[in-house]
Amino acid sequence: MGRLGLVEQTNQDQQHFDVVVIGGGPGGYAAALYGASAGLDVALVEYDKVGGTCLHRGCIPAKELLETAAIVRTVKHAGDFGVMVEPQSLDWGRTLERKQAVIDKLAGGVVGLLKNRKVTIFDGKGTLAPGRTVEITGNDGSTATITGDAVILASGSVPRVLPGFEPDGRLVVTSDEFFELPHVPRRAVVIGGGAIGCEFASTLADLGASVTILEALPKILPGCDDDVTRVVLQSFRKKGIEVRTDVAVKEHQPNGEGTTVHFGDGESIETDLVVLAVGRVPTTDGLLREGTGVTIGERGHIEVDGRCRTGVEGVWAVGDVINTPQLAHVGFAEAIVAIKDLLGESPVGVDYDRVPWAIYSHPEVAFAGYSEAAAKEAGHDVVTSRHRFGGNSRAQILGETDGLVKIIAEKGADGRAGRILGVHMVGPWVTEQLSGGYLAVNWEATVDEVAEFLQPHPSLTELFGESVLSLTGRSLHG
Ligand code: NAI
Repeated sequence: MGRLGLVEQTNQDQQHFDVVVIGGGPGGYAAALYGASAGLDVALVEYDKVGGTCLHRGCIPAKELLETAAIVRTVKHAGDFGVMVEPQSLDWGRTLERKQAVIDKLAGGVVGLLKNRKVTIFDGKGTLAPGRTVEITGNDGSTATITGDAVILASGSVPRVLPGFEPDGRLVVTSDEFFELPHVPRRAVVIGGGAIGCEFASTLADLGASVTILEALPKILPGCDDDVTRVVLQSFRKKGIEVRTDVAVKEHQPNGEGTTVHFGDGESIETDLVVLAVGRVPTTDGLLREGTGVTIGERGHIEVDGRCRTGVEGVWAVGDVINTPQLAHVGFAEAIVAIKDLLGESPVGVDYDRVPWAIYSHPEVAFAGYSEAAAKEAGHDVVTSRHRFGGNSRAQILGETDGLVKIIAEKGADGRAGRILGVHMVGPWVTEQLSGGYLAVNWEATVDEVAEFLQPHPSLTELFGESVLSLTGRSLHG
């Protein structure tokens, strides 16, 4: 794209836009695209690459490498289907090339969309000054000042780093360096068993590494329903992933080619690579001049209300820089809320307790709404159903039978299952199967209502249908 750089801008003293967006990740570029599609004149300020963490160092490369891992598994089990193949080997260079090609194509697509909608992109670092003024220091050293009727802050987040485990890109990496590893390590220690930790552990194990997860809390995937976590643990164990919970990591000591990670009560483990996946922190360095009135909270996030308003007239913040689930699709939704709000359309804010979650490890995890424990904690009397993929015809055809669907419904006065509070899935392609459950939870539909709907046969989604149907007190296969 003929990106409008600062060189072109400096000829004009100051430019004014309807909306100035700082940050070109999913939150920022979605605000720019949605705002421009509503007829607004939008400027987008980005110092790195449009597409942000999600596209360049997060969701997209992570899923692309997980697909390589899936191909490795498929080839490994090809013989079960009578397809005899030569012993497999991995051309890692080609794997990385393909990943990069997917990223480049998608990045080109986003930039193309912005261009078509006449969004002005500034290559530089934006700083909000009082009066909805944004000062830009260009990547080419030039400077410019622009103003907006509205400003949307979408500066994102960076990986959290632990003291004693500073990333060096060789022995210790975060997700910022993971996607450029020179080779697949023989042994890896993943610190943190959240979404990133589990996706990376799963990828590495399927690619042949011997993997250990060290998690500080009593369980991995702390936000998931216990039944779901149990399935992930069993499947991880089958892959040879060792999961250690309730452990505190201390330091690591390089020793020749590898390093020794010290943790717990005098324990240690030798490894070739340490992957840090212990959360992300918001990026606000150099984002705000004195006197803007925008508030940063205790944990470093920009404070906003339910409509992403910062409290300063005309300034909104969306995405990872605010304290909401750090998910690209949440950033998209917040961008839409902010644009609608600045247009005076009184939008309903995002219902954060019921957003869709999708973790792309093998097995995959997907859920929306309360887990059983969270529903009880919130004071609900519940009825649940659990159905396993082992009995599902499509899962047997695929040879992917580990997993289950669990429905959590409110228990009515008559003891019957009523409103659906949560839908939790683990197993083959569940990230592609959540939409029915997500709609049910957010539509506040009852078990009886959803049980009326058909699922195609044979399909993986039948398990969701069966799980809901069984809560009516009658069933077919389940
Ligand atoms: P996270 O907060 O989901 O998980 C971090 C894990 O590290 C937690 O289980 C925490 O208890 C553990 N931990 C923290 N300090 C530790 C320590 N010193 N030693 C051992 N364990 C420690 O963060 P994560 O996985 O880094 O992901 C960052 C954000 O990105 C999250 O909000 C996550 O939901 C989101 N994300 C979502 C994905 C998805 O939905 N597929 C994929 C990747 C990231």
